[in-house]
Amino acid sequence: MSHQTVIVLDFGGQYNQLIARRVRECNVYCEVKPYTTPLAQLKAMNPIGIIFTGGPNSVYLESSPHVDPEIFTWGVPILGICYGCQLIAHTLGGQVTEAQDDSAREYGKTQTYYDTGCKLFKGLPAEGISWMSHGDYMARVPEGFALTAHSDACPNVAIADEKRGFYGVQFQPEVNQTEHGVDMVRNLLYEGCQAAGDWTMEDYKHTAIAQVREKVGSGKVLLALSGGVDSSVVAALLAEAVGKQLTCVFVDHGLMRLNEGDEVEAAFSKWDINFVRVNAESRFLLKLAGESEPEHKRKIIGEEFIRVFEEEAKKVGAVDFLAQGTIYPDVIESGAGNAAVIKSHHNVGGLPDYVDFKEIIEPLRLLFKDEVRQLGRELGLPEYLVSRQPFPGPGLAIRIIGDITKEKADTLRLADHIFREEIAKAGEDKNLNQYFAVLTNTRSVGVMGDGRTYDYTLALRAVTTSDFMTADWARIPYEVLDKISVRIVNEVPHINRIVYDITSKPPATIEWE
Ligand code: XMP
Repeated sequence: MSHQTVIVLDFGGQYNQLIARRVRECNVYCEVKPYTTPLAQLKAMNPIGIIFTGGPNSVYLESSPHVDPEIFTWGVPILGICYGCQLIAHTLGGQVTEAQDDSAREYGKTQTYYDTGCKLFKGLPAEGISWMSHGDYMARVPEGFALTAHSDACPNVAIADEKRGFYGVQFQPEVNQTEHGVDMVRNLLYEGCQAAGDWTMEDYKHTAIAQVREKVGSGKVLLALSGGVDSSVVAALLAEAVGKQLTCVFVDHGLMRLNEGDEVEAAFSKWDINFVRVNAESRFLLKLAGESEPEHKRKIIGEEFIRVFEEEAKKVGAVDFLAQGTIYPDVIESGAGNAAVIKSHHNVGGLPDYVDFKEIIEPLRLLFKDEVRQLGRELGLPEYLVSRQPFPGPGLAIRIIGDITKEKADTLRLADHIFREEIAKAGEDKNLNQYFAVLTNTRSVGVMGDGRTYDYTLALRAVTTSDFMTADWARIPYEVLDKISVRIVNEVPHINRIVYDITSKPPATIEWE
């Protein structure tokens, strides 16, 4: 694939992937690399520009991440963000110190004044809000640098040495809170790095199809299709590339949402591939019977999934390639440490240990989630699959609190369907990142007609989030909630009470189990 590349050099900041996504949104390919990557390796990537990210450290401490100063003599434009900006200043002879008084420390939305004569701010308003988060302060900027932005509290919010193509900003241009932040990234790329804008999904589709064809030759490919966005897009790409050489095994564990299995099957009917749908509901329910512990449920489903998949794979016989829907965020090796594991996420995707194959192919390895969706559209997958909200591998099993029965699954399926239908009707789906119903294990007394009921409580959950690591509960209008509540209690047997979950993450998680 011949396209220009920008490197995001990761110093452990929290928005590093977002920076890379912004660059790609500007049609320039971008990869995230840890700051420890040897310079020779970075050079071999032949980048047109480098972005130093933010990070939690103080640049003047010996123990903090640094770069090989030779990076500044190589002639590639560099933008430093936050820590990255301070690193440029520190390495090139400026002085960075701890801000002595609170006014020099800046957090959050800050009115900022820009020098629009600087390429980075060219064509943008001369003032606006930027999102700051820095406790350190550039007391002296290095020789050759001009001050290109300031705030009321801080004289040096941005610096530039345009001759050498070095830029630094103390704020975060990649977050939505910074007005015109994306335009600044675009300016860096097109004004500072002379980008050609050669990264498009249409190109990627053609190149990826050609690459898969070349690699696979006349070999056989096997894919575990979960119906989620990633595995569906892999399936569509492989279907285009190798047709009948592809076998998709879609294990329907009976814990999907209403009509979901049929929808997935329908989406692939236009391709001439080997599509195997295994209706394994009773097998899974039998294994899960009586089990209430969330992690046990996940484990049971994961193991049973592998067993079913293995049986089907045996029927297919020897395959040459096992395809997986690995995407770029799973691949990025961070400059920072790993976060604690709160739940063991079971993704019905990767099963390399159990199936006989020669090689793994991962055609989405370079793509972010939004790019995967775009590729899906390019490949002609229906919008309901491509823009689907995340759905956990164990499905409704972790949305039925306590033990699972078919009756409970049917009850939840219907209630969840009504919830989603009304959200879509009200046009609220655009504002939500994930929303679903949970069947709690609590029963309570109600009155319906003249009779007493003793039935289940249903919880509704809806969140807004950009990364699913943190999330806020969504402020769905009361009228919409009211309509949902009335419909569900009237149309779904065994539910007589509905509650709305108003906890954010943290302290709660998005799912209930
Ligand atoms: P939590 O509940 O941890 O969820 O806040 C964060 C995101 O991950 C999804 N999730 C899962 N996905 N297998 C999956 O494939 C799982 O076991 C699982 N548990 C949670 C959840 O739906 C949300 O999008």
